[in-house]
Amino acid sequence: MDKHELQHVIEDLYEKYAPVSDGAVATYIPELGKANPEDFGICLVSADGRIFETGNCDQSFTIQSISKPFTFGMAIDELGHDRVFQRVSVEPSGEPFNSIQLESGTNRPFNPMVNAGAISVTALLHSKNGNQTFEHILSRLSGAAGRQLELDECVYRSESSTGHRNRAIAHLLLNFGMVHDEAEEALDVYFKQCSILVTCRDLAMMAATLSNMGRNPVTDQHVFDHRCVKDVLSIMFTCGMYDYSGHWAYRVGVPAKSGVSGGVMAVVNRQMGVATYSPRLDKYGNSVRGVSTCSDLAARLGLHAFDLMNSGSSFLDTVL
Ligand code: DON
Repeated sequence: MDKHELQHVIEDLYEKYAPVSDGAVATYIPELGKANPEDFGICLVSADGRIFETGNCDQSFTIQSISKPFTFGMAIDELGHDRVFQRVSVEPSGEPFNSIQLESGTNRPFNPMVNAGAISVTALLHSKNGNQTFEHILSRLSGAAGRQLELDECVYRSESSTGHRNRAIAHLLLNFGMVHDEAEEALDVYFKQCSILVTCRDLAMMAATLSNMGRNPVTDQHVFDHRCVKDVLSIMFTCGMYDYSGHWAYRVGVPAKSGVSGGVMAVVNRQMGVATYSPRLDKYGNSVRGVSTCSDLAARLGLHAFDLMNSGSSFLDTVL
């Protein structure tokens, strides 16, 4: 059978970007420094569940910050907008992901994609789910991936024993009443959610679940309500790539989220999920090959939200 056009495209991108060795593997969490810098995977999953992949798509790595859009979606789903927005804003911070800065006036973290916001969101989930919070997060992320995910105990311990800055952020939030008294327990859940093991294929499937309005396209499990998917994608679009988010929106033009272990997950609304894995990071904490691959893919396929090839709302098509 002839190779699918999308398979050709990702193999071509793999060949083009595999020789790039710029950037450095994150070492601020000692366990992350053990990653193989040469690993490189690209995977696409269409909103109807077809999988295209090349490179190291079976290699496990920790999800890190790519857990943040999912916990934000869970919080909206389970606690409602009003309670969530009392504890976190939706404004790009223009600051690095671990910045110790809150919105003046409200003392809320700027958005749920920076650490302060993600810790605040996890504390909200903890206020509802207590000591079951991590299992609950693991179960919903597993639903999005379409298989049972697991915790990397070594990364979790490494993260917890060196996470002094996150501990400082949690206590600052506690000082301002943004997290409840069990801040330490909530922080522990945050360290665990970052230490969930995924593959590049898992991330593409999770992205495809978001692209398919919250329904996993392979298992057909309804994981997220479509209303919270809209909120999740909006925040990913404006804040998902840290202080590179404006450049990303301009160059790539689709909602995305990166993590310090080298994953990038992007969502083409109603069409497909995209994921890359390559552990060398740029100065913003985004995967170097991941950013180049996604930019190039978006340009080749016309994925940018405002691309000429993107004809926009099919609803308007039918009524105008
Ligand atoms: O909070 C941390 O330091 C990490 N566990 C997660 C950070 C992360 O992935 C930020 N990414 N670029």
